[in-house]
Amino acid sequence: MARFPTTRLRRLRQNPALRRMVEETRISASDLIYPLFVTHGRDTRSEIPPMPGIYQLSLDHLIHEVGEAAQLGIESVLLFGIPAHKDARGSEAYDPGGIVQEAIGVINQAAPEMTVITDVCLCEFTDHGHCGVLDGQRIDNDATLELLAEMAVRQARAGADMVAPSAMMDGQVSAIRGALDEAGMVEVPIMAYSAKYASGFYGPFRVAAKSAPQFGDRAGYQMDPPNIREAMREIALDIEEGADMVMVKPALAYLDVLSAARGRFDAPVAAYNVSGEYSMVKAAAENEWIDGRRITMEILTSIKRAGADAILSYHAKEVAGWLAAERR
Ligand code: PBG
Repeated sequence: MARFPTTRLRRLRQNPALRRMVEETRISASDLIYPLFVTHGRDTRSEIPPMPGIYQLSLDHLIHEVGEAAQLGIESVLLFGIPAHKDARGSEAYDPGGIVQEAIGVINQAAPEMTVITDVCLCEFTDHGHCGVLDGQRIDNDATLELLAEMAVRQARAGADMVAPSAMMDGQVSAIRGALDEAGMVEVPIMAYSAKYASGFYGPFRVAAKSAPQFGDRAGYQMDPPNIREAMREIALDIEEGADMVMVKPALAYLDVLSAARGRFDAPVAAYNVSGEYSMVKAAAENEWIDGRRITMEILTSIKRAGADAILSYHAKEVAGWLAAERR
């Protein structure tokens, strides 16, 4: 390559049109999956304190929120449920009348084009707050698989377009694939939370979903943050077990994992820009310590640049709004 003064990389940075021409990564609304928290009752729209702009929504408000998101170009949502009752086995998770199952039906009615993805994990539904069923103080992996499979089947029967197992139980993808196929739902794809780390960045989510573990932590099933080779093993296994898409979570502190996954696997890779990542941006922006909009776009762009095909983010709706306004 010819060097300076022949080569001047600044030539293509001179104005916005040139910069856009050579832009390598661009976020669009269709990249984004918008997580939503749904709760029983009517006329409830309660803001989650550490997550300004994100709410626990009753079904009436959920429809409204989904409608607005669709208007702005969002094409998929991820549902989390806050049950009426929690118990040791997380019964509402796989009750046909459970809140998530009900929400799926309502969204399919009101916004049939919206892709509805459901989280498959027991932690929001168990009284102990762990992602599986207990045997004493330990999580019983194989007993949990049956419940996760049942949960996924119920969600798919209710009309979920995709299921996303996040409990980090060994074998969960194949248990769910087998159960869906047996129930005749061979077309429902699985987005596996494959490399899900035991992370402090989930703190605000546990306020939102009221799902903090009542004893211990999730380190016995979620991944240890120092490990990247192990993440490759998790992803490889999930693909073998039948995952259609895989995920790295959280996103920002794990961009190296995301990039490695992108390089190694040809399956679509999603990244979850989690609650704590969102809360930090909101808190700093509210103090006017950072420019919230600029930093949000920079973060999402970095996640896409690192290799994400899809990004789950609480910023989805606001970003779609900015993108829509730019087009006008
Ligand atoms: C369920 C689940 C969690 C998140 C997504 N699915 C919580 C957890 O594992 O503690 C976290 C999402 C976020 O922080 O935004 N297991």
